[in-house]
Amino acid sequence: MSEIIFQERIEAEKKIEPKNWMPEKYRKHLIRQISQHAHSEIIGMQPEGEWITRAPSLRAKMILLAKVQDEAGHGLYLYSACETLGISREELVNQLHNQEAKYSSIFNYPTLSWADVGAIGWLVDGAAIVNQVSLQRTSYGPYSRGMVKICKEESFHQRQGYEIMTEMARGTKEQKEMAQDALNRFWWPSIMMFGPHDSDSPNSGNAMKWKIKRQTNDELRQSFIDKTVPQAEIIGLKIPDPDLKWNEERGHYDFGEIDWDEFWNVVNGNGPCNDQRLKHHKKAHDEGRWVRDAAKAYAKKISN
Ligand code: 3HC
Repeated sequence: MSEIIFQERIEAEKKIEPKNWMPEKYRKHLIRQISQHAHSEIIGMQPEGEWITRAPSLRAKMILLAKVQDEAGHGLYLYSACETLGISREELVNQLHNQEAKYSSIFNYPTLSWADVGAIGWLVDGAAIVNQVSLQRTSYGPYSRGMVKICKEESFHQRQGYEIMTEMARGTKEQKEMAQDALNRFWWPSIMMFGPHDSDSPNSGNAMKWKIKRQTNDELRQSFIDKTVPQAEIIGLKIPDPDLKWNEERGHYDFGEIDWDEFWNVVNGNGPCNDQRLKHHKKAHDEGRWVRDAAKAYAKKISN
């Protein structure tokens, strides 16, 4: 009976709240997706964080600092939403550390130049916006509300990245080459962020049935490509896909086949930076233990 009432609630576009009955599979699906989303936000701080000390101006440094701090906040929002499903922060972090849980493969690529910081803001946060705007309508209340706040900040992230790429693309010959090189390295990993093709996505069936996802991986990927290609053209950069072509009949861009071997290779731990990202997170987590212990001791003291 509860399953029927639950699905009727979903169909009626009523949010599922922590106190509502939910199928165990729905709860587990959400913990998997929200926790990996949160892990992605936190690990995603590393590639850009490495450039805070090397930003080319005080203004650029301030903007990047604000952006990286935002990502930490996004992670905390999402961990908090995940905890409403009855799992502790400690367990979530353990799942990341023992590689039971994933994070977005895009963050396993190195940031080799300042233009990479621009490419991440423009493309990675641009892709995240497409995905997260859609997720604002997800059926689970705490996740949906967290997305609304996060999307507002994500737009600033995308604009600051596109501004960097615009300045460099219109700068000296070397700067334009640096921007094009960053686009060449980040384009395909960015469109992989939307996950495998719908036909190869084991989680999408339930995700769509339970309205956790409101659009499919391929729909969101296509939307991102359609939005981004004109942005590259405006600043005179070339998308590294010889098969990219506007299809008047479809009203979308046709694009080349994604290298799914590379995708799964990186997802399965063999990307350029997988080890470094996890080692850094574990070190920072260990170094922060005293803060967590002090906060717990204080919370205990004031609750007595
Ligand atoms: N990187 C790593 N793993 C990925 C992936 C990627 N880019 N895309 C898919 N996968 C994994 C899935 O997690 C799943 O593995 P699992 O069952 O062990 O969890 C497997 O590949 C099959 O993929 P599915 O399509 O079946 O999985 P989902 O239905 O969960 O769809 C998703 C994948 C589209 C990423 C979906 O989980 C989602 O929308 N998540 C929320 C958004 C998110 O996590 N974004 C990550 C980036 S956050 C970010 O960029 C923040 C910005 O501020 C920088």
